[in-house]
Amino acid sequence: MTAVRPDIAPKQAPEATRFPTGFVWGAATAAYQVEGAAAEDGRTPSIWDTFSRTPGKVRNGDTGDIAADHYHLYRDDVALMKRLGLKAYRFSISWSRVQPTGRGPAVERGLDFYRKLVDELLEAGITPVATLYHWDLPQELEDAGGWPQRVTTDRFADYAAIMAGALGDRVGTWTTFNEPWCSAFLGYGSGVHAPGRTEPASALRAAHHLNLAHGRAIEVLRGQLPAAAQTSVTLNLHQVRPLTASAADADAARRIDAVGNRIFTGPMLRGEYPEDLIADTRHLVDWSTLVHDGDLAAISGPIDVLGVNYYTPTLVSTPEKGAGSTRDDGHGASDYSPWPGSEHVAFHLSEGKQRTAMNWAIDPDGLYNLLMDASRDHPEVPLMVTENGAAFDDYVSPEGRVEDPERIAYLHGHLDAVQRAVADGADVRGYFLWSLMDNFEWAYGYSKRFGTVYVDYASQRRIPKASAHWYADVIRRHALPPTGPS
Ligand code: FCB
Repeated sequence: MTAVRPDIAPKQAPEATRFPTGFVWGAATAAYQVEGAAAEDGRTPSIWDTFSRTPGKVRNGDTGDIAADHYHLYRDDVALMKRLGLKAYRFSISWSRVQPTGRGPAVERGLDFYRKLVDELLEAGITPVATLYHWDLPQELEDAGGWPQRVTTDRFADYAAIMAGALGDRVGTWTTFNEPWCSAFLGYGSGVHAPGRTEPASALRAAHHLNLAHGRAIEVLRGQLPAAAQTSVTLNLHQVRPLTASAADADAARRIDAVGNRIFTGPMLRGEYPEDLIADTRHLVDWSTLVHDGDLAAISGPIDVLGVNYYTPTLVSTPEKGAGSTRDDGHGASDYSPWPGSEHVAFHLSEGKQRTAMNWAIDPDGLYNLLMDASRDHPEVPLMVTENGAAFDDYVSPEGRVEDPERIAYLHGHLDAVQRAVADGADVRGYFLWSLMDNFEWAYGYSKRFGTVYVDYASQRRIPKASAHWYADVIRRHALPPTGPS
């Protein structure tokens, strides 16, 4: 192979500039982040309604009461997606909108919203991709103990059956959970997400029950959906890197990989919990009683696609004894760790990288490595990038435009990483930009704008940012546009 000086190498080899035929171009949102209409048509509070009303939990006291008002504006939003040429829309269903208390019969008005949304999408030629759970547990189920309680998996299986019955004839791709790591460890460990509990053992119990609920839902979906339907789960696989080549830092990386990634991929894709995870956490939970006979078989039922979300890598070390450990792991500050059993691990900001408004390092190679690692470790399951994107401090210019060149550069770099992974053998079926539009960014409220479409919250006016036009061009070409000289 001829060595090419990196400074004169072309940014992309011409033969690598196309994505596979059938590669899906989409954008994603989540119910609580965009819908609003929090108390309409029978919807009752989820844990995020309660959490956002708890003083000090969400920046500026923001809530999802109105959000981007997608509940009322979905027709316009679908029309906008069509104009941008999107081929797929990944949205989530608000459990407490369709089954208000998390148990018992469904509410038709709630189901109707999703039926109408899906019909509108199909009419526009946009493939709906439905996620059953994007963090918004009905409050009554949390009051009964939430995810640390095994009975919540029964509730989730019932809910999955309701949704398969209501939308199974028109939604072809189903995702059980979005980022169960966040639900378990930010929700019950560090407490920066709803329900805001800080109980390491409960976080681990929640993780197992989320796994079990996933497996049980997959079984329900398989039983009710047409054979051609695809089932999946979306994980935020942490791309973990040790700070140095020391054995101590390698151990930190192993630990975070175990409780960040393999705690889900192990049972879901291999039918077992990793032994090192069990060893690292056995002082917190008794895995032999937490995991019942038959659970692992239930969790590891086959899925058709593995969704992966990626934003930034995770750089870790084992600090010297006595040295303070950094808590900033990119998931929000807390006095409590979201890493049960590995609380001593330190997190670092990678040097020399540009950052987004979340202070997350911009590192497209992390996405390349994630896709390559996942396809090496689980070659049997195709991948889909179900979220990738960036927040920047966008504003509307006096001419009414939103110029977001940083986002264009971010997307270009990451799509190039996807393309490189595909060229190197990863089976990546599609890409969903996070997010279609600005929305309620959890504990950051409306202060962080991830949308490719700007939302003026006062008027609910949508303004496609420059990146939306750029993305529309990518979709049209089915390829990245050439980059100018840098
Ligand atoms: C992911 C979430 C999504 C959004 C992005 C920025 O972890 O799934 O809802 O908040 O981060």
